[in-house]
Amino acid sequence: MAALKKIAIFLIAGLLLVIVALDIWGALTLGSLTPSANPALDKDANKVVMVFGATGSVGDGLLKAAVEDPDVEKVYVVTRRSSPRIEAGVASGKVEMLLHEDFTDYSGLATILGQVNTVLWGLGTTSVGMDDETYTWIHVDFPIAFINAWLAARTEGPMSFHTVTGMGTDLNGEQHWAREKGRAEQEAAMLAEGTGLRTFGYRSAFVRPTSEQANVLHYALEALLRPGALVIPSKDLGGAMLEISARTTELPNGALIDNADSIAYAEAYRERMKR
Ligand SMILES: NC(=O)c1ccc[n+]([C@@H]2O[C@H](COP(=O)([O-])OP(=O)(O)OC[C@H]3O[C@@H](n4cnc5c(N)ncnc54)[C@H](OP(=O)(O)O)[C@@H]3O)[C@@H](O)[C@H]2O)c1
Repeated sequence: MAALKKIAIFLIAGLLLVIVALDIWGALTLGSLTPSANPALDKDANKVVMVFGATGSVGDGLLKAAVEDPDVEKVYVVTRRSSPRIEAGVASGKVEMLLHEDFTDYSGLATILGQVNTVLWGLGTTSVGMDDETYTWIHVDFPIAFINAWLAARTEGPMSFHTVTGMGTDLNGEQHWAREKGRAEQEAAMLAEGTGLRTFGYRSAFVRPTSEQANVLHYALEALLRPGALVIPSKDLGGAMLEISARTTELPNGALIDNADSIAYAEAYRERMKR
């Protein structure tokens, strides 16, 4: 029993040390973008928002941010199934759910795509236990097929595509997931070049679920990772995306947003919403 207690204390102490080391590393290396204090804002930039992955941990917060934003008039959710937040949004009249099965084919959505200004892409999953081919299909083929369809359907107005790739994303990385997420960021930006569409990859670390989904462990991890700017609540991440969309001339197509950058833009968004 005493030996077990010692092992437990040793493991907890080890974990805390790792977190402190991560916090120091995060605080020293993250954050290269500073939101302009006097931005040029386009109130229509987020008029029509489309959300992917809304049934997931990250996407639920992205949807929450879009639904609560007064400048967003309409939210389309493209999904395989519903969720309490999607149902509530549909009941409010602001959200329309588009049930979808094949995320490499958007031919049935062309008319709707022509109206969309902002896409919040939280569709994706862990690489653990998944073969490389399936991982690529979900994280590269899905978003690239979507961007091609969106560009083909586009009409006038600002367009921005925001995808949560994750910390460690690296085109030349050792891990398959890191390379493929880097490839998705790069191919998205290349497709958008010269079209007026701006694409952004969010290299977030831990995205804390919404208050409706989070449990005590999520909040504990949030508290531990906060000093290193390694955590952002999912709704704040959505706010950062909407802020970057509205600042139509501030960040170029293909910009990469690390976690501290997201926190800075989420703060700018909150300040703007107070006015
Ligand atoms: N959670 C974090 O802290 C965090 C941090 C950094 C980056 N990310 C990235 O953010 C993305 C989402 O993560 P998450 O934690 O929100 O995952 P999650 O809770 O598992 O949610 C995954 C979402 O993607 C959808 N999805 C997954 N596979 C699909 C498929 N084959 N076809 C259609 N839809 C599919 C799911 O839809 P269904 O409900 O229909 O399955 C769900 O809406 C991932 O790429 C992840 O790497 C997450």
